[in-house]
Amino acid sequence: MMLDTITVRQMPFEFPDEIDPVFVAGDHRASFAIIAGSLLLPHLEPYLIRSMKAAARHVTDPELLDGLERFCAQEGQHYRMHQKFNATIRRAGFPGLERLEQELSDDYHRFSRTRSLRFNLAYAEGFEALTMNAVKHLMEPDGFGPELSPFLEMVEWHFVEELEHRTVAFDVYDHVCGGYLYRLAVGTWAQWHFTSWMRRVTRYMLQVRPQRGRSGERGEGAPAGSMPVLPSVRSLFPGLLRIYLPSYTPHDVEISPGIQSLADKYSAMATRTS
Ligand SMILES: [Fe+2]
Ligand SMILES: [Fe+2]
Repeated sequence: MMLDTITVRQMPFEFPDEIDPVFVAGDHRASFAIIAGSLLLPHLEPYLIRSMKAAARHVTDPELLDGLERFCAQEGQHYRMHQKFNATIRRAGFPGLERLEQELSDDYHRFSRTRSLRFNLAYAEGFEALTMNAVKHLMEPDGFGPELSPFLEMVEWHFVEELEHRTVAFDVYDHVCGGYLYRLAVGTWAQWHFTSWMRRVTRYMLQVRPQRGRSGERGEGAPAGSMPVLPSVRSLFPGLLRIYLPSYTPHDVEISPGIQSLADKYSAMATRTS
């Protein structure tokens, strides 16, 4: 099967000190929605790691335990890299982000402290299922294309690893707690929770830097490595609906061969792999 190993890569990405936060040329909303995703991750991914580590002592299958540890190691690399990128967004001047991030961070710490392991694992799988299927839609057949900016290359590396560890959260939930209806209920709530936070961030950023002209119009002098077209949210739906079915399992998801080539490319680019 394509992409059946979980490789932990330490990546050498560097970002310029200053970036234009409108990096999808001419499209403030799309740019800010992507930034909202990047701002989410240094709060959400550590929460996923905390949940997985709490589950580890209940995992009796050595192969799954190895997957769990690799999942945590990959997510640890992801959020640190997003933190590094997010520092450039802070310098671009959106002071209200601090309060929004604090609120999200408080939520995730509260969930770890007060909610059951079952809730936290179902949340994790709700996030992983949605992102893995969205990532497939955005990336297949073979990624974002040539000549990417360091940010988009970083996102592509992250997305490849999301596909690599696609089965872990599902299997850990199933192994430790299980139950379709509970996973469905909490997973759907989780998807509402983090996407509504991202929408609030996007709205706030649009207030600070409003869109002038038509959204999605590609401006003059679009920088090399900008993402030319983003699929509409609606076009994601058919692929996403399957995650709500009782028969859904990430083990059945087919990954296109082009993604394996990207995984090999990022392994070669990594400063360290394990
Ligand atoms: Fe990640
Ligand atoms: Fe993940």
